[in-house]
Amino acid sequence: MILLDGKKLAEKIKRDLKKQVSRMKQKPVLVMALVGDDPASKVYVRNKKLACQEVGIISKEIFLPENISENKLICEIQKLNQNKKITGIIVQLPLPKKIDKYKILESIDPEKDADCLNHHNFGKFLQVGEKKSVVIPATAIGIIKLFEEYKIPLSGKYAVVVGYSDIVGKPLTEMLLDRGATVTVCHDKTKNLGKYTSQADILAVATGVRGLIKSGMVKKGAVVVDAGIHRDKNKKICGDVNFRAVSKKASFATPVPGGVGPMTVAMLLWNTVRLSKSSPG
Ligand code: GUN
Repeated sequence: MILLDGKKLAEKIKRDLKKQVSRMKQKPVLVMALVGDDPASKVYVRNKKLACQEVGIISKEIFLPENISENKLICEIQKLNQNKKITGIIVQLPLPKKIDKYKILESIDPEKDADCLNHHNFGKFLQVGEKKSVVIPATAIGIIKLFEEYKIPLSGKYAVVVGYSDIVGKPLTEMLLDRGATVTVCHDKTKNLGKYTSQADILAVATGVRGLIKSGMVKKGAVVVDAGIHRDKNKKICGDVNFRAVSKKASFATPVPGGVGPMTVAMLLWNTVRLSKSSPG
């Protein structure tokens, strides 16, 4: 089994971004809004901030209280939209349950939407594809970059995507279809999930269910990608796939940590640099 080393590829992408940023007169400025104090979100935002420092992107975090109203949060985003110095905005998800995340994402200026989660950008991406989009959903394109780096063919392959989130499942399905793969999309609720996953040449999992995919659910020689992130009983980071067992059957697999996570961060920075280059200011 060959590890799909996201950490290594992310470093390479960040080195290239650093060169690009060093040549830019106006450095990109990314603002990350964090609502409440979800510990995992804090870690993600901190990792993004450190990665921004590495490549020379100016970043700022804003911390907003858990009980902020939807309207007040939209006002805060509008202030960021209007600030000409800011070139990219991220609202870290998940948001508190009483807030309609789609209203919030819609309020981000599409020209500053580093996540590609705004209706305009996400819709455009789904319709016209990534080649004509300024920003691309970061986790999904990060996974595709890993396939490209390791020369994993997709055309004519059978791919199973488990999970249908805006961040991973939906855009990844689109990108796999675009590259000639035949795709089945499943849920963690799919009856007899293993019936589908065990036929997959390419298996991509992003459900938020720790250890959902066991070795018996994977075809020998499959390429397995795990976008999950959890803590196990010993507080060690693990994913949606039982990596130890599955790695004995897979031909390629992403580790957790060190697989999809660093690629997401690298591609968010990539989006941020693209937004900054395409901005009129
Ligand atoms: N929460 C988990 N992953 C992501 C991501 O890629 N972007 C945002 N905004 N929130 C997340």
